[in-house]
Amino acid sequence: MQATAKKTGQAKLGSLEELEQLRGELTAAVDPDQTLIVVCHGTGCVANGSPGVTEALKKALADAGEDIKVVPGIKTTGCHGFCSRGPLVIIKPAGIFYQQVKPADAEDIVAQTIQKGETVERLLYKHPQTGDTLSTTEEIPFYAGQQRVVLQNIGQIDPTDIEDALRAGAYAGAAKALTAMQPSEVVEAVTKSGLRGRGGAGFPTGVKWGLAAKHGDVEKYVLCNADEGDPGAFMDRSVMEGDPHAVVEGMIIGGYAIGANEGYVYVRAEYPLAIKHLEMALADARALGLLGENILGSGFNFDIRINRGAGAFVCGEETALMRSVEGKVGEPVPRPPYPSDKGLFGKPSVLNNVETWANVSRILERGWEWFAGLGTEKSKGTKVFALVGKVNNVGLVEVPMGIKLRNIVMDIGGGVPGSDHFKAVQTGGPSGGCLPWEDADLPVDFDSLIAAGSMMGSGGMIVMDDRDCMVDVAKYFLGFLEEESCGKCFPCRLGVPRLRETLVRFSKGEGTAEDIDDLYSLAEAIKMGSLCALGGTAPNAVLSTLRYFRDEYEAHILEHRCPAGVCKDLITYSIDPEACTGCHACFRACPQNAVSGEKKKPHTIDESLCIRCGMCMESCKFGAIQVV
Ligand SMILES: Cc1cc2nc3c(=O)[nH]c(=O)nc-3n(C[C@H](O)[C@H](O)[C@H](O)COP(=O)(O)O)c2cc1C
Ligand code: SF4
Ligand code: SF4
Ligand code: FES
Repeated sequence: MQATAKKTGQAKLGSLEELEQLRGELTAAVDPDQTLIVVCHGTGCVANGSPGVTEALKKALADAGEDIKVVPGIKTTGCHGFCSRGPLVIIKPAGIFYQQVKPADAEDIVAQTIQKGETVERLLYKHPQTGDTLSTTEEIPFYAGQQRVVLQNIGQIDPTDIEDALRAGAYAGAAKALTAMQPSEVVEAVTKSGLRGRGGAGFPTGVKWGLAAKHGDVEKYVLCNADEGDPGAFMDRSVMEGDPHAVVEGMIIGGYAIGANEGYVYVRAEYPLAIKHLEMALADARALGLLGENILGSGFNFDIRINRGAGAFVCGEETALMRSVEGKVGEPVPRPPYPSDKGLFGKPSVLNNVETWANVSRILERGWEWFAGLGTEKSKGTKVFALVGKVNNVGLVEVPMGIKLRNIVMDIGGGVPGSDHFKAVQTGGPSGGCLPWEDADLPVDFDSLIAAGSMMGSGGMIVMDDRDCMVDVAKYFLGFLEEESCGKCFPCRLGVPRLRETLVRFSKGEGTAEDIDDLYSLAEAIKMGSLCALGGTAPNAVLSTLRYFRDEYEAHILEHRCPAGVCKDLITYSIDPEACTGCHACFRACPQNAVSGEKKKPHTIDESLCIRCGMCMESCKFGAIQVV
């Protein structure tokens, strides 16, 4: 708040014209052709040391002592998506992309790139297949295949500076809605855009808003679901950290559309940077009169509070989330009544996901027709995925709906290390399922994923290779859900542990063929009888893996064999005497002293001591250790 007032001396904005005038002044104050060093300060790059890189760059610039036209100098931003290559430094306006930058590289960047306009070769990205050195962001396949709508400003703006956000167009959509549209027109625009909720179920956003709007002039609420608890997912966190204004703006639009004057962001407390940036965004927006009384002279009053969640997965479920905000135990309650009729504090409420709100900002800014032109007939727009697991380019990607799974994993993701295919891709988090390589050409949209036995979910995408055991994967997700179940209804409380126990028996080679039939009927009972979608979707992990990888289940049950070499009770480690050079590396690595043998002579493993940790295999450079 202070920063804005100090920098611009700007009083509260009283109209659309004043907002646009300020935006014009801020834009004119920055020369787009001047050199700008952008350093990624997303959580991944920060963990990899980007603050040290920023400090070193500042020092190198000061030491160079030149009249360097760097305005506004060094900018720190949210996550650029390519986290596995961080810390990232981008030099604008040319867009030179430096990766895995260390503080020690700062002097070369300043001396070569800033002062002489030359690139530092060793910091450029090398194409893993062609070996070509690529200089700019646009050339890198990871970025070239993406279409950034929700992420359009992330990596471009300083998320702690509302002026930077305004330059990038922030609040234009909200201003348009509040000053030039009736609330019903806003609901209509969102409906016509075809936007479906990005939190998992894909419910049409405009329809949901219409249901709440029809209650007329009563107290109502809008809420943002920022609970994001899926293993491997970090889309919502990145949006809040990198462009919090997009979320705030979306909620202003939603509040106006349904007639709510208050909004809540329910964000898990494990996201401190997201909370900090949201708090700054709210304070800055308030200082400029974009939140509060009579926003932009429109007569509309609206403000937003942040509510920290303690990190229970079930609190992401909409009715549980609302109870948690009310200060009650975060357990789901039966629907109907739906939140659009009776939600937070018993009032009509609209809850949307972080990414949904950010999309709303874009739709109002650019028009519903533009949005309706993106994606597929029934899944409009783009989707942000957190691409993780056995994939070369781990990171955050945004792609148009309908893109093939193959394009995401093999092209944008750069493929699977050491393989020309993936074994499976888990989509939809714990509620979703695993898709096999045979589905590589499946279009990634809400309905195709469901038809294939998985779901979009909130956008976690975990890539697996031949060394991942599908029984083990299903066991993992069931274990997660067993722990996170609130226990309110017995099909979920008792059924999910029974499903997991059956899989535990499979992984020990103790299952029977009848167990598979029992699994199906138990899965059906859990699906039918559970109160909320945690239980309702819990069987998906086992059903989808059974559907596509039944032979792997049968190998466990009938042959007492784990083909991927993961289930400890079904594998043994041994050393191939032909390949073993007696280098002693496995001997040193083994925590159990299970390896014996003299140097330069073939080694052996004592099976009775071995705990199947795999350390020996990882340490062997000669591929001499086998798992059977
Ligand atoms: C167990 C459970 C956890 C959920 N967690 C989240 C979450 O972390 N974030 C989210 O946006 N939606 C989550 N959802 C879905 C929400 O209940 C709700 O459908 C969604 O927030 C609505 O927003 P949308 O229409 O924009 O997708 C969860 C649902 C269930 C059943
Ligand atoms: S399905 Fe599971 S998580 Fe959902 S209400 Fe029932 S016990 Fe709780
Ligand atoms: S798997 Fe682990 S315990 Fe077994 S021999 Fe190798 S290093 Fe030792
Ligand atoms: S945190 Fe820097 S690229 Fe993701």
